[in-house]
Amino acid sequence: MRTFLMYSHATTDGNFDIDNLYEAGRLDVVARCCMGALWISEHLRDNVQFIVSLNGGPRPPIAIRFDGQKLGDIFPSEKGIAFVIKKALKAVQDKDWVACHQGVSVSRKSFQDLIKDVSNIYVLDSKGENISKTNIKDGTFVLGDQAGIQAKELAFALRKGKKLSLGKYNYLASFAVAVVNWVLDQK
Ligand SMILES: C[S@@+](CC[C@H](N)C(=O)[O-])C[C@H]1O[C@@H](n2cnc3c(N)ncnc32)[C@H](O)[C@@H]1O
Repeated sequence: MRTFLMYSHATTDGNFDIDNLYEAGRLDVVARCCMGALWISEHLRDNVQFIVSLNGGPRPPIAIRFDGQKLGDIFPSEKGIAFVIKKALKAVQDKDWVACHQGVSVSRKSFQDLIKDVSNIYVLDSKGENISKTNIKDGTFVLGDQAGIQAKELAFALRKGKKLSLGKYNYLASFAVAVVNWVLDQK
């Protein structure tokens, strides 16, 4: 199983404007990462899950999990994914995962709770070991949004995982996701 775990500063308010994802704390970035993680053109990757930890106001944290094996009734576009995020934000209850859409569930788990639940952690960071020098086949790939991972949370993730680099450039988060999928697809 391949997991992408994204730390995001985006909104936890389900009333965000679906036509202005930029103003929703960059939910557009989250949606593009979700697309790059789960879709191969018109097919879904059934061995991948994408989890986003949302840490923006008004009531963070909220985690949303998209399971590529079960996902359905969702259009692979920023708006299609944002529609499901909106549903999730309105359905969240407590730290237990609650199903809110086909193959999607939501919880009040924090980023640190999510890290505790996963293993084989690689934190995507340009200063880590270059992926081309490793023989990684799968694992949990942790990444940040346009503002990166908050320092305390990054330190926590690194207690269990190690830094993995895609090269010297600081890439868009969605590009980093796509590159990891592509590199691992070659194996
Ligand atoms: C746009 S970057 C974040 C930029 C932010 N200013 C920072 O310095 O963390 C978004 C995410 O993509 C991942 N990323 C970007 N470039 C990378 C690289 N060369 N190697 C590994 N991960 C990378 C990192 O996880 C990063 O948090």
